[in-house]
Amino acid sequence: MHDYCTLRQICAIIAPFPRTLRSTLASSIQPRSHVERSAMSTANTAKLKEQFDAGLETRADFTIDQPSDRYGAVDHAAWQQLYARQIALLKGRVCDEFLAGVERIGMPADRVPSFDEINAKLTPATGWQIVAVPGLVPDQVFFEHLANRRFPVTWWMRRPDQLDYLQEPDCFHDLFGHVPLLINPVFADYIHAYGRAALAANDAGALPLLARLYWYTVEFGLIRDAASPNGVKIYGAGIVSSKGETLYSQRSAAPNRLGFDLERVMRTRYRIDTFQKTYFVIDDFAQLFGVAQTDFAPLLARLAAEPAFAAGDVCEGDQVITRGSQDGWQADGDI
Ligand SMILES: [Fe+2]
Repeated sequence: MHDYCTLRQICAIIAPFPRTLRSTLASSIQPRSHVERSAMSTANTAKLKEQFDAGLETRADFTIDQPSDRYGAVDHAAWQQLYARQIALLKGRVCDEFLAGVERIGMPADRVPSFDEINAKLTPATGWQIVAVPGLVPDQVFFEHLANRRFPVTWWMRRPDQLDYLQEPDCFHDLFGHVPLLINPVFADYIHAYGRAALAANDAGALPLLARLYWYTVEFGLIRDAASPNGVKIYGAGIVSSKGETLYSQRSAAPNRLGFDLERVMRTRYRIDTFQKTYFVIDDFAQLFGVAQTDFAPLLARLAAEPAFAAGDVCEGDQVITRGSQDGWQADGDI
């Protein structure tokens, strides 16, 4: 069984600190997945404590009641600004299922959403609900929520001076980025299956493999669309909540765009401090549904002994949609 400290130690090995923030690509929001959450630095642990010390009553599963009375005009204005910017930017760039999800959920444009109002639409549709959390949560807790169709959403909003760059996931990333696809039945089943697989993966060696799968699909996934630039649209939450990476992932000549292959993805390291060197492109969400049917235990056991690929590698057998120019790539720093 992994406790939080064990996971943090593991991740400290694969994610040396201090991290360097992106320089040339500093305009991007860089959200954090659950796995990256466990690799947070001491400073960010302090942030976690700060959130818990804010007087909020936190349950054993790290959830809280959304403290709606703590949102001020600045928070609602930040949501409004980010929402307007991303909705305008995403048209023609994000997959249709994402925009359909935004509409079905009825996500408000002018204020931080009420989580209860979101759940009133989401839960009847796919059985998922969002739960408010004060900030970063341990991996095991995160997996338990996913395995029970609960998606943790950070309650607080970033400050006005953080609109373009944020080290931790905030309410906009978690809610705007992740929740619209939770109302899509196929994607909803995929994340549920992922949570169950992660919860069952008691071997610490399996966690980096599962982290890569989450990273290259839920956070930074692309989907084929023949009519779009480079034949792709976006769906990953880390992209759709980021102005800079929305543009970069679909249009830049720098990154590789490779057809999705489960084993290839699980063997590929990734970036947390720059835009991705490689994006993996699914054919459609049905392909993810197939991934969700995988018997992960033997696969994880087999792949744990295989060497990992660098984030920018293009290998024999890859389905190369675009081979990256590598412009702006940093030489080291893969996770
Ligand atoms: Fe995320």
